[in-house]
Amino acid sequence: MVFEEKEYMLGEKKILLRNAKPEEAQLLVDYLKTVCGETRFLLCDPDEVKYTAESEVEFINAKNASEDSMLMLAFVDGEYAGNCSFQPIGSRRRARHRVDIGIALYHKYTGFGLGRLMLEQLLFTIKELGYEQAELTVVGGNDRAYHLYESLGFKECGRIPKANKYQDGTYADDIHMVKKLQ
Ligand SMILES: CC(C)(COP(=O)(O)OP(=O)(O)OC[C@H]1O[C@@H](n2cnc3c(N)ncnc32)[C@H](O)[C@@H]1OP(=O)(O)O)[C@@H](O)C(=O)NCCC(=O)NCCS
Repeated sequence: MVFEEKEYMLGEKKILLRNAKPEEAQLLVDYLKTVCGETRFLLCDPDEVKYTAESEVEFINAKNASEDSMLMLAFVDGEYAGNCSFQPIGSRRRARHRVDIGIALYHKYTGFGLGRLMLEQLLFTIKELGYEQAELTVVGGNDRAYHLYESLGFKECGRIPKANKYQDGTYADDIHMVKKLQ
């Protein structure tokens, strides 16, 4: 679905939230490779990001046309800062009340409230669509994300120990969190 363009101020910074445009496909691929290298709290290493501009155009068009999922981009003073998204957990009737959410910002745009602003808007849209619960996975040790999710009403509901193994031989858990919307 399309997120109607909205503007906000966070301190002195001008924030624009909107859906992605097909011509931003390469921007999104480059961003994914960069953010995956900036933190160990995302899904994979940068060399494992296999998306191309072509596949990303299809992804953007599918998201914009969808009635039950969305991709929202954030711009700070005109610069692309990151995105958040939601999609149904599954297509089966039994899972249609559940939505999965994700968010990642460039490191330079973290820590001043942008994540909170984006997730508040995302959760508002999700609730309007009638979803009953929002779910996410956060990597153990990602204290900033955990704190933010908890303060938005998400509750920890389980952990997969050592779900992530890094190239340096260390591990991190996956923490599942759920927020009831009704
Ligand atoms: C996680 C992320 C989306 C959060 O967005 P953000 O804009 O940086 O977060 P905000 O500034 O809105 O809020 C962060 C909150 O965590 C708090 N915080 C910051 N560092 C913290 C820490 N080490 N421990 C606990 N809380 C912390 C802040 O005080 C703030 O809480 P408050 O609003 O109650 O004061 C963003 O940092 C990001 O994209 N990180 C890299 C990718 C990532 O980890 N994605 C999430 C994957 S699950």
